[in-house]
Amino acid sequence: MCGIVGYVGSRPALPVVVEGLRRMEYRGYDSAGIAVVTPDGVLNTAKKAGRIGNLDVELAGREITGNTGIGHTRWATHGAPNDRNAHPHLDAAGRIAVIHNGIIENFHELRAELERDGVELTSDTDTEIVAHLVAAVLREGGDDVVLAEAVRSVCRRLEGSFTLVFVDRDHPDSVVAARRNSPLVLGLGDGETFLGSSDVAFIEFTKRAVEIGQDQVVEITRDGYTLTDLHGNPAEGKPYAITWDLEAAEKGGYEYFMLKEIQEQPTAVGETLRSHFMDGRITLDEQRLDISVLREIDKVFVVGCGSAYHAGLLAKHAIEHWTRIPVEVEMASEFRYRDPVLDRQTLVIAISQSGETADTLEAVRHAKDQRATVLAICNTNGAQIPREADAVLYTHAGPEIGVAATKTFTAQVAAVLIVGLALAQARGTKYGDEIAAEFAALEAMPDLIRQTLERVEDVRRIAREIANAKAILFLGRHVGYPVALEGALKLKELAYMHAEGFPAGELKHGPIALVEQDLPVVVVMPDPTGRPLLHQKMLSNIAEISARGARTIVIATEGDELAAKHAAHLIELPFSPTLLSPLLSAIPMQVLAAEIAQARGFDVDKPRNLAKSVTVE
Ligand code: AGP
Repeated sequence: MCGIVGYVGSRPALPVVVEGLRRMEYRGYDSAGIAVVTPDGVLNTAKKAGRIGNLDVELAGREITGNTGIGHTRWATHGAPNDRNAHPHLDAAGRIAVIHNGIIENFHELRAELERDGVELTSDTDTEIVAHLVAAVLREGGDDVVLAEAVRSVCRRLEGSFTLVFVDRDHPDSVVAARRNSPLVLGLGDGETFLGSSDVAFIEFTKRAVEIGQDQVVEITRDGYTLTDLHGNPAEGKPYAITWDLEAAEKGGYEYFMLKEIQEQPTAVGETLRSHFMDGRITLDEQRLDISVLREIDKVFVVGCGSAYHAGLLAKHAIEHWTRIPVEVEMASEFRYRDPVLDRQTLVIAISQSGETADTLEAVRHAKDQRATVLAICNTNGAQIPREADAVLYTHAGPEIGVAATKTFTAQVAAVLIVGLALAQARGTKYGDEIAAEFAALEAMPDLIRQTLERVEDVRRIAREIANAKAILFLGRHVGYPVALEGALKLKELAYMHAEGFPAGELKHGPIALVEQDLPVVVVMPDPTGRPLLHQKMLSNIAEISARGARTIVIATEGDELAAKHAAHLIELPFSPTLLSPLLSAIPMQVLAAEIAQARGFDVDKPRNLAKSVTVE
């Protein structure tokens, strides 16, 4: 995915655009660029491969004035991350500048058409062809055709996903944008109007936002905006108030956003729980899903990618235990290709913090084609997945800037537990007092998370000791297994270290061959009172790997003396109920990975090759 900013107003556009890009650099950091139009119709552009700092160097000393501008940070899809493929892209006459998030899937066909017409393309991107196509419509239409109409005409020919934002040097008082399957929100200021892939782009200036809908084209001026569909018919945006503030989008004194976001987890979980239990009953957000529908559900599928998939594995444990409804969990990228058995009585829970992940979006579409009911769990207002779902449960973790999921993961875990209780309530498989007791235990978790965060110095010390290990294994059983997977994912994506999560019982069926002297193995222990049989099995697993030289790092409930006896390193957590315990055991995993990444000199917020959300399949 990429970061997009647009501005029209009375301020100098350049600093507004560049600061907006800086705040959204987590969305893509292969290159960055800007285009600013002066009141007398001069189009200034600058673009550079690499981080925004490289663009700053490019801009140094240049006098770029103008109150209309756009900006882009890129996560490369078509064309290497270099200067010539950086956005914005211009038409041959240099009249139109365009930036783009998404993929034009009929790019080759359109490129061939332009080349047949003698157009000389200067980049390898799919985006550049849009500048040429729009310029051609403007040329052919003469003064009768304005930019918005030209954009509508071209977008009707495009296939795939796009947020496209344009400036036209002949009309320096407006910015035009179009979107399909890619995010775009608008910010309304006093005498100024903003566009962004996320409201992070303009939170500094306004909290009044509007979601732009599917296949809509918006023209912004300093006085406001005009919204249409692709045929020019007036359309409605969806206004909303931004509920967090600029401080949430800043580092707050931490070296990395991720370190701050790890510390924000008590609030993220607490805010996600808030307002979902009222008058003794569980409620879902945007209740576009009648309780009677939930009552008829006889099967649940949970789909997601990465950390969201791991939250889905935890959803299975909670929903099956509380409702006895069978639950399947599938990586979203596999879901629609295996032709899953879905029908009207199936509930598909789509978990995605960004709400933009293409794999998950396509899984949602497949589920709806099969007449299943879709509930989205999402952290982002106005994203495509909640827009297309039948119901939404928003996690209120606030913006997560670090590429690695931390507070959005634990907020997702809280959310799936709420859904599990909502299903149990709808189906009467738990009494009201039991649901109230489970929710009360959930409401105690933010404080236990806070207590866990107060103990992470031990984790940091251990991390520094094993920072140069060749690999690290993660073991868990039951709800500990998804946490083991999450720990391995964090380490892979942050420290670029080989790491793997296993169900502990699987070890002796092959993976134990990996165990050698001093190999660090992180073990997630169940509580001895919660799951005594599992606890005993895990102790056996620890003994098996210790006997072969493993360096066991055991995450256990405080006071678990047997675990302590077998641990080379012990990380103690406060007691919590089995199904809620991942809200605590995930935290040492996050801290361990972040500390090892720092010890290895890597950028914790912007790991190589990654972006915050993957908007391509
Ligand atoms: C997790 O740390 C990664 N950032 C990644 O696996 C992420 O969880 C996955 O891409 C899903 O993103 P989403 O929640 O925005 O759909």
